[in-house]
Amino acid sequence: MTTRSVILGCGSYLPAQVLSNDALIAAHKIDSSSEWIERRTGITQRHIAAENETTSDMATNAARAALTDAKIDIADFDLIILATTTPDHTFPATAVRVQANLGMERGFAFDVQAVCSGFVYALTVADNFIRLGQAKKAIVIGAEKFSRLLDWNDRTTSVLFGDGAGAVVVGAYEGTGDKSDRGILSTHLHSDGRHYGLLQADDAGFARMEGQEVFRHAVKNLADVVDEALASNNMKPEEIDWLVPHQANQRIIDGTGKKLGLPAERVVSTIAKHANTSAASIPLALATAAHDGRIKRGQIILLDAMGGGFTWGAAVVRW
Ligand code: UT7
Repeated sequence: MTTRSVILGCGSYLPAQVLSNDALIAAHKIDSSSEWIERRTGITQRHIAAENETTSDMATNAARAALTDAKIDIADFDLIILATTTPDHTFPATAVRVQANLGMERGFAFDVQAVCSGFVYALTVADNFIRLGQAKKAIVIGAEKFSRLLDWNDRTTSVLFGDGAGAVVVGAYEGTGDKSDRGILSTHLHSDGRHYGLLQADDAGFARMEGQEVFRHAVKNLADVVDEALASNNMKPEEIDWLVPHQANQRIIDGTGKKLGLPAERVVSTIAKHANTSAASIPLALATAAHDGRIKRGQIILLDAMGGGFTWGAAVVRW
C-alpha cells in the first residue's frame, strides 16, 4: 500500500471587474494595442481586483468553492497551503487569515513563494505532508492580486497579468503504488537562482521582466520537466488526457502541447480570459476544465509551470 494525495474537489474565484485589452490600454494610457497583446500572448482580457479586495479575500472565496465542490466540512482539515506572490502583508502568512476566514480552528497554515510556479510547489508540499502522514486533508490555494505589482507605464509587464484565485482540496487515500492509482502520482520541482534578476520585483515593488529571456528559458525548462515527469511514471505522452499548464503566454502553452504531440483540444488554456495570474493560473484552469466537464475522474492530468527565480516544476495527477 502507498499513501496517495487525491484531489477531491476544486474551486475558483475571479474579481468582478473585467478589463479588455482596449479598456486596459485606455484606462492606463499604455503605449500598446489590443492586436499586439493578443497576437504575442493570446490575452484578450483580465480580471482586476477591487481596491479593497485582498489576496486573502480571493483565496477564501476559492477555498470555499473547493470545499463545496468536495462536500467536505472545514472541521476535517488539518492543513492550508497558500501560494502567492502578493500576500496581504509581509507577515503573518496570508494563509492564516484564510484559515480564520474559513473557521478552521486546528491544524496549520502557511504561504509558499515560488511566483508563477507557486501552485505546483504548494501542491508538492501538501502531497509530501499527506504521504508522510502529517496531514490527512489539505486545502492548496493559488491566489494573486498581481495588479498591485504592476507599473502601468511599463508595457512589457502591465498588459500581461491579472488577478484571481483557485484552490484544490486534497485528501489521503491508500493506493497500490503504481500509476493506476488515483491522486498525485509524482511531482518535480526545480529552481535556478542564477536568473534571479530576469523576472523580479524591483526596489519599488514593481514587477520587471526580461520577456524574451524568460520565454527562452520557459520553453526549454518546461520541455525538460515534462519529459522528466513522464519518464518517472513510465508514461508515454499519449497517456496524458489533459495538459493544464501555467498560463503565461499562449505561444509557450502551444509549444509544450506540440512537444508532447497533444492536440490543442487536450490542452487547457484560459489565458485569453484570465491573462497571467501567476500562482493562481493552474488551479483556475483546473477548476474551469473540471467544472465544464472536460476533466473526468480517472483521467491523467499533467501540470507544468515556470516562474521567477527561476522556479519550475510539474506534477502528474490521476483525477
Ligand atoms: O509567468 C512567468 C513566466 N513568464 C513568461 O513565461 C513570459 C515569457 N515572455 C513572454 O511571454 C514574451 O516575451 C512577452 C509576451 C513578454 C513579449 O513578447 P515578445 O514576442 O518576446 O516581444 P519582445 O519583447 O521581443 O518585443 C517585440 C517588440 C519590441 O519592439 P521592437 O523592438 O521590435 O520595435 C517591443 O518594444 O514589441 C514591443 N513591445 C510591445 N509593443 C506593444 C513590447 N511590449 C509591447 C506591448 N505593446 N505591450
